[in-house]
Amino acid sequence: MESLDGPAELARLEAQVRLVRPLELDFLARAGLRPHHHLLDVGCGPGFFAAWAAQDLLPLGKVTGVDADPALLEIASAHAATVGARVTFRAGTAARIPLPDASVDFAYARFLFQHLDAPAEALAEMRRVTRPGGTIALVDTDDGGLVVYPAPSGLPALLRASRQAQAARGGDREVGRKLKALLHDAGLESPAARVYTFSSEDVGGAAFVAVTLGFKAQVLGPPWIEPAEVAAVVRELRVLHESPGFFGQALGYGAWARVPDAG
Ligand SMILES: C[S@@+](CC[C@H](N)C(=O)[O-])C[C@H]1O[C@@H](n2cnc3c(N)ncnc32)[C@H](O)[C@@H]1O
Repeated sequence: MESLDGPAELARLEAQVRLVRPLELDFLARAGLRPHHHLLDVGCGPGFFAAWAAQDLLPLGKVTGVDADPALLEIASAHAATVGARVTFRAGTAARIPLPDASVDFAYARFLFQHLDAPAEALAEMRRVTRPGGTIALVDTDDGGLVVYPAPSGLPALLRASRQAQAARGGDREVGRKLKALLHDAGLESPAARVYTFSSEDVGGAAFVAVTLGFKAQVLGPPWIEPAEVAAVVRELRVLHESPGFFGQALGYGAWARVPDAG
């Protein structure tokens, strides 16, 4: 099994940022990102989104990326060399963001909340560092929206193992549908949500399978599922996604809300 810092997972995260770009542009515009904003990217990972945002979306602003994994931060810091001082990366966690109160305009977390055992605590911390009137925006996945046809016979077992493994680590593979409620429960204003379809029609079968299922194939194993079962699903998918009738669909959930004005 490969670690999450391995080359295949890095390639998957890079492809994910690139392939969902048109959808993410729509989401960020709706959520109110402006070219002068200071954007916080919590759980920035290897920094592909942060570098793109600093370069293309925030010509007058800046990005601070925060992650708990030092190996990913090291990879991310290579972007700082190409993008310059408008992107910086810092070590921290969702529960302890290394920024002062009210210091960012737009706090964003993409594909982080599925990993968190205390999402409310993370939101309280994102709220602390966001100025009154600023935005908190979340993007995440939800396995309920994943459809593949024709599907390998072992896919339901793989998805079940993925949910169980994530839950055992405190995370939630069905967090997408809950994002708006989490923002509401955190006392934020005007929570709104939007769902985006990402399909094999847009990106091709191979890219669809790599981005949506590649992660599971890399990290899943005993006690949740036998390696041979994972290998069989991967083998079958490789054949199936080549077939002219192959169709795959995943849903990306975005939600955003405003930090109440002070006083
Ligand atoms: C699926 S990756 C997403 C990376 C990046 N946001 C992206 O969309 O490409 C999840 C990231 O969250 C980070 N992470 C997980 N739990 C965290 C926590 N409690 N605090 C900060 N980062 C965390 C991991 O190190 C990893 O980089």
